[in-house]
Amino acid sequence: MGSLEIYDHISSVDLSKNQNIVKKRKMNTEEFLEEEEFDSNANNTKLSIEDRKQVFKRFYMKKDYVCLDRINRRIVNILDGLQLHIGVFNSMEQKKIVQFIYELQNRGRNNELEEHTYSEPNKWMRGKGRVTIQFGCCYNYAVEKNGIPPGILPNGIVDHIPNLFKIMINRLITSLVLPISCVPDSCIINIYEPDDCIPPHIDSHDFIRPFCTVSFLSKCNIIFRHKIQIVGPGEFIGSASIPLPVGSVLVLNGNGANLAKHCIPAVSYKRISVTFRKMDKAKRPYNFKLDSKFQNIKSSDFSDAS
Ligand code: OGA
Ligand code: MN
Repeated sequence: MGSLEIYDHISSVDLSKNQNIVKKRKMNTEEFLEEEEFDSNANNTKLSIEDRKQVFKRFYMKKDYVCLDRINRRIVNILDGLQLHIGVFNSMEQKKIVQFIYELQNRGRNNELEEHTYSEPNKWMRGKGRVTIQFGCCYNYAVEKNGIPPGILPNGIVDHIPNLFKIMINRLITSLVLPISCVPDSCIINIYEPDDCIPPHIDSHDFIRPFCTVSFLSKCNIIFRHKIQIVGPGEFIGSASIPLPVGSVLVLNGNGANLAKHCIPAVSYKRISVTFRKMDKAKRPYNFKLDSKFQNIKSSDFSDAS
């Protein structure tokens, strides 16, 4: 695991006992789900049937997305580079994470968070804005009046990534959802009330690839296309639609991150997502400090994290 030592004590299945499974997962994808027999490795025999099911469930991954689009007279797979990891966070973990996000939202509303951490939109129509809570940096979506383009605000003051989210990052790295070269140092929570959406965009190159989004509370579809059509407030037409189950992680890389735009049309049910991204070093805010504690995370669990 290189210089970053990561131990994952969150789930009922201790990954350190399952190195073979992790190695295997590196090599393949869905066939793994269908494989019935575990290795007759002594460590694995300690796992109950339920634990084994958990491992299979947790490791389900889809990455063979194909959607052909014509871009500058060339036919390309705009979904190349996307991966969807299902069951990365179990239902108990999702509950704790969501509870914690509600606590953060309360603190934001009470002005107990740093200036640029919490933002609640002024809503005047369907599809206008959503609550965002940002850690590690403040990404400014708007083009400012003085012409400053969207990007990480060099002087934006936000809170540090909370412990519980560091544990989530641990999970993403130990489960090989994100590579060790992309340990996120920023994250943004999106809280979508019914009718809220995120309009078509490509995530800023102030953040390196891959990055990922974890989904909570309700399933929705994310839409992709090179040129997404905007047909009304919160209504968009793309060429591919990918369902995002709760507890899943969508990893964006390659064409899926850089060529295709993506958006979430107005949601029918309340939904929360957490997007984890690593900043381009040159774009880190002036006051950014590498979190040395995080670099050496040893053992913590969901119960004491918040
Ligand atoms: C984003 C984004 C998708 C989601 O924050 O850039 O695309 O699922 N979020 O909320
Ligand atoms: Mn995005």
